[in-house]
Amino acid sequence: MSGKTIVHGVLSVPGDKSISHRAVMFAALAAGVSRVRGFLHAADTLSTAEMMRALGARVEEVAPTELRIEGKGLRALSEPADVIDAGNSGTTIRIGSGILAAQPFLSVVTGDRYLRRRPMGRVIDPLTRMGASILGRDGNRLPPLCIRGGALRGIRYEMPVASAQVKSSLLLAGLYADSPVTVVEPVRSRDHTERMLAAMGATISRDGNAVTVAPCERLDPLEMTVPGDLSSAAFFLVLAAVTPGSSLTVRGVGVNPFRTGVLDVLRRMGADIRHVGERTEGGEPVADLVVRGATLTAASVAPEEVPGLIDEVPALCVAAAFAAGRTEIRGAGELRVKESDRIAAMVDCLSSLGIPCGEYPDGLWVEGPAAVRVAGPCDSRGDHRIAMSLRILGAAAGVPVEVTDVGCIDTSFPGFQPLLDRLTR
Ligand code: S3P
Repeated sequence: MSGKTIVHGVLSVPGDKSISHRAVMFAALAAGVSRVRGFLHAADTLSTAEMMRALGARVEEVAPTELRIEGKGLRALSEPADVIDAGNSGTTIRIGSGILAAQPFLSVVTGDRYLRRRPMGRVIDPLTRMGASILGRDGNRLPPLCIRGGALRGIRYEMPVASAQVKSSLLLAGLYADSPVTVVEPVRSRDHTERMLAAMGATISRDGNAVTVAPCERLDPLEMTVPGDLSSAAFFLVLAAVTPGSSLTVRGVGVNPFRTGVLDVLRRMGADIRHVGERTEGGEPVADLVVRGATLTAASVAPEEVPGLIDEVPALCVAAAFAAGRTEIRGAGELRVKESDRIAAMVDCLSSLGIPCGEYPDGLWVEGPAAVRVAGPCDSRGDHRIAMSLRILGAAAGVPVEVTDVGCIDTSFPGFQPLLDRLTR
C-alpha cells in the first residue's frame, strides 16, 4: 500500500501535556504568582488544575491556554474537602501522589474506570518507604488511593521500570524530605521535572542515570510558554511521512531529547524530517518540524529506545503499515498498562483492517506495505492515542476507518479532528 492522501500545510499543535501538568502543579507550590502560556486546555491537564485548586491554590484561566496561578508555597496547602478526581490522567495521580505524600493531611484520589485499572504500586512502594501512609485497592496497587502524608525521609531508589511519572513523584516528595532523594532510572526518561524544578530554584543534580533533589524551602514562580506537544505532532508527522508528495510543517514543537525517539525511528524508516529554527522556550528545546513524504522501509525499535517514544508507538504502528518489511518493537511491556493495553489494542485494530501484525509479551510487529480494508468499527478502548492513530491510518490510506468512542481524544488533543479534516479535505 502506498499512502493515498497527499497533505500540505503548516500547523501548530496544542501545548505539551507533560509540561502543562508540571507547570500547573509546580506553580501551585511556588511562592508567588506564575503565568503559564500555551497551556494544554484538555481533560487531563484540567484534572491537574482542579487537583491544585482542591489543595487551595488559585488557578485562573486568563484565556483558554493561559493560566495565572497564585501559588500557596510548599507548606501551606490545605486538606481537600472531597475526593480528588484525576479523570483519565496517570500523570495527575502519580505525580500528584508525590505532593500529597508530603502534606500533613488526608487526601483521597481516584479516576475514571480506565485509570482505576492502572498500577500505582510503583509510586506507593517508594513513597511508603519515605514514610508516607498510602492505601489503595487490590492490596495497595490500584486507585482510589488514600494518602495520609507527613514527615518524609530521604531515600535512594532504583526504579525497576523507566518512568518519568514515578521519578517526578519521588523528586517532588524529595523537596519535603529530611535529606536528599536520589532516583536511579534503568534508562533515562523525559526530564521536564528536573528542568522546571531547577528553573524554580530547587537544587537538582545528575550523575549518569541518577538524579538527586535536595530538600527545599521555597520555589520561585514560573513565567513560561509551553512548547507544542511532540506526542500530538507525531500523528500529523506520520500522516505526511508515509505519503510521497506530502509536505508539512508543524511549528513550535518541543524537542526534548528524551522525547524525540519517534523522529529517530521515522528517519531510520526513510522519512525526511528536519528541525528548523531550534530555540529554547520555558527551558525546553523547541523547533519547527518539516516533513516530506517518502517511501518508507521497516525499522526495528530496540528496548533502550522505548522510553523516548513510549507514547508514539501507536503512531509508529501506522507508519509501519505503510513501510516495506516487518517493523518490530520490543521491550515495550509498559504499553500494556497505559490508558489501555496498547499492544493488544493496536494489534486487534490493525488485524481487523487486514494489516499483518502480531503481539509479543513486550511488544509487537507490523508488516507493510499492507492494503487497508474497510471493516467494522475499531475499538479505541477509550484511549486517545489509539483513536488518533486509527484516524490517521484511515486518512493516509484514503479508506474510511470507523473508530468507537472518539470523545477520548479530548483528553490530550481537542481540535484534532478539525485539523485532520482541514488537511485532508
Ligand atoms: C509521562 C510519562 C510517561 C508517558 C505519559 C506522560 C509524564 O509515563 O507515557 O504519557 O508526563 O511524565 P510513564 O512515567 O508511566 O512512563
